[in-house]
Amino acid sequence: MKKEVLELLITNPKGLYVDCTVGTGGHTEEILKASTNQNVSIIGMDRDGLALDIAGKRLKEYGERVRLIQGNFRDIEKYLTGREYDGFLLDLGISSLQLADSSRGFSYMKDAPIDMAMGEDGHSVRKMLAGATQKEISRILKEYGEERRHRMIAKSIARMRDTEEIVRTGQLVEAVKEVIYPNKVYGALSRVFQAFRIWANEELDNLRLFLPQALGLLNTRGRIAIISYHSLEDRIVKRFFVQEEKDCICPPSFPVCVCDKHAELRIITRKPVLPSQLEIEKNTRARSAKLRVAERIRNDQ
Ligand SMILES: C[S@@+](CC[C@H](N)C(=O)[O-])C[C@H]1O[C@@H](n2cnc3c(N)ncnc32)[C@H](O)[C@@H]1O
Repeated sequence: MKKEVLELLITNPKGLYVDCTVGTGGHTEEILKASTNQNVSIIGMDRDGLALDIAGKRLKEYGERVRLIQGNFRDIEKYLTGREYDGFLLDLGISSLQLADSSRGFSYMKDAPIDMAMGEDGHSVRKMLAGATQKEISRILKEYGEERRHRMIAKSIARMRDTEEIVRTGQLVEAVKEVIYPNKVYGALSRVFQAFRIWANEELDNLRLFLPQALGLLNTRGRIAIISYHSLEDRIVKRFFVQEEKDCICPPSFPVCVCDKHAELRIITRKPVLPSQLEIEKNTRARSAKLRVAERIRNDQ
């Protein structure tokens, strides 16, 4: 959704923006090369050093207009100072680069050591699986994978773990195949791998911690644009935007306002922006993408 991000995020043609999930630099490059944005500067951040190496080469021609930082956006305040930012972009989830690198264990398509840490700050699924109870594994599969057969799969994983340590993606595939019908197995595998990836990388907590910090760093009329791929992520973003759009959060039974809360955001996308059919045809992973954008309306903290 590069075109939509460009249109909805960049409101200041001389602004300073932060692409908090720069990956290999696709969105950042699109913004920097747009003819109307020749004076825009971008700080690109990612927790994945390998992605940043590629982004660095790709964006070299833009010189000082782009600066790259390795870090987790959950600590955004630690990396950025002052209040001079005109927009933040998050394009959540996993990159094609990470998925394609079989040595990192993100994919069930190839047997590889099971790791899935997105950066040095992520945890290894191998270690997390070794330490979790069957009940915890079941909860992770239910919550993060939205997998209906979470109990059955967790039981199969725990059974396997009783006889051998789970260290490779192939073992996880085997444990799932053990209890899921062949015609349903690929759907189940993608949900299981997604659940463990979200768990190991604390993806929902990262998002929750990021949002209020980004709001505090935004200029008035600066924007936050977030592309999410999971219903729980989308819900976190939507709720935050709705909450920060409210002027008062006192219970309706209170005769007068005592909370002293003021609206900080204006929601730009009442409904999330979805990818076009053409984009979904080109990239099937885009089918679950949702873009939400909000604008800072005051900054007098
Ligand atoms: C979908 S990709 C982004 C692709 C990018 N927009 C592009 O056009 O190339 C998501 C990226 O976010 C990074 N990421 C995920 N969680 C992060 C976090 N908490 N902090 C920093 N980067 C994160 C991943 O390492 C991955 O490179």
